[in-house]
Amino acid sequence: MASAFRSPTRLIFVFGVMVLCSVSPVRSWSKEGHILTCRIAQKLLEAGPAHAVENLLPDYAKGDLSALCVWPDQIRHWYKYRWTSPLHFIDTPDHACSYEYSRDCHDQHGLKDMCVDGAIQNFTSQLQHYGEGTSDRRYNMTEALLFLSHFMGDIHQPMHVGFTSDEGGNTIDLRWYRHKSNLHHVWDREIILTALKEYYDKDLDLLQEDLEKNITNGLWHDDLSSWTECNDLIACPHKYASESIQLACKYGYEGVKSGETLSEDYFDTRMPIVMKRIVQGGVRLAMILNRVFSDTHADVAAT
Ligand SMILES: *[C@@H]1O[C@H](CO)[C@@H](O)[C@H](O)[C@H]1NC(C)=O
Ligand SMILES: *[C@@H]1O[C@H](CO)[C@@H](O)[C@H](O)[C@H]1NC(C)=O
Ligand SMILES: *[C@@H]1O[C@H](CO)[C@@H](O)[C@H](O)[C@H]1NC(C)=O
Repeated sequence: MASAFRSPTRLIFVFGVMVLCSVSPVRSWSKEGHILTCRIAQKLLEAGPAHAVENLLPDYAKGDLSALCVWPDQIRHWYKYRWTSPLHFIDTPDHACSYEYSRDCHDQHGLKDMCVDGAIQNFTSQLQHYGEGTSDRRYNMTEALLFLSHFMGDIHQPMHVGFTSDEGGNTIDLRWYRHKSNLHHVWDREIILTALKEYYDKDLDLLQEDLEKNITNGLWHDDLSSWTECNDLIACPHKYASESIQLACKYGYEGVKSGETLSEDYFDTRMPIVMKRIVQGGVRLAMILNRVFSDTHADVAAT
């Protein structure tokens, strides 16, 4: 991966891909959303798991998980990683406002498990082999960590578990204040950018501090234990996806018509939902990483 980013030809290729992406619907929390989720998660890791994460990160990340949490978006159109493209979202039946794994978790050709819920299960169980050491070379544990971290963000973005025919709001074109956008993108990025501009002087660190304050002693303090409740790591992502489609119906799609302009009213009422989902993604990612690496003691992981 290090070499992929350092090689100039690859870089040109990456930029080419990014240009192509900008004309086709993109489905993912923005860079900002993923960075926040991953920073929140990394700070909540216990010592052993924190070392395991540091060991899995390539050197150039300098121990910062959030630096690579957008990696799955950067590679999803590369030939080698095309199989990951359906893993960023779930399409549910229009207006059903519900999610069922057996009905909905598949790609557009009907291949089972190929959705964000299946992917989280997949990479969680791959990471559970980490403690067995380097003898298990079936999986690339670095990639498993980056995919899990990214998809835990995506599954919490309500419009990533949206309706099938509008591609999670991607085909609902509208205006965000004065510029063109679409409903999916409003939830991926516009609300976060507007919040940064209005309240945080465009400084992501300040927003992060505010979110963390609300976790430790504010708004969300009493919710933490219910958010991280999970008897079966493999089944819990079902719940996160169900929450998302319910929020998508209640707040995302609600009252929105294609072609209209969304501004203050929509921003004021939806921003708290976006912030809560970013935080939930982070807190739950930490819960999963603390558990899959729970047998990894700091001293063992460091060797
Ligand atoms: C694991 O994946 C990363 C990212 O794609 C890559 O840089 C690294 O070389 C891989 N490691 C192994 C052992 O294949
Ligand atoms: C699980 O990961 C492997 C690669 O490690 C991949 O071949 C497979 O398609 C993945 N399945 C899902 C559902 O993510
Ligand atoms: C933190 O909580 C306060 C008080 O409830 C709220 O006004 C603020 O918007 C919250 N911050 C974020 C980033 O959600």
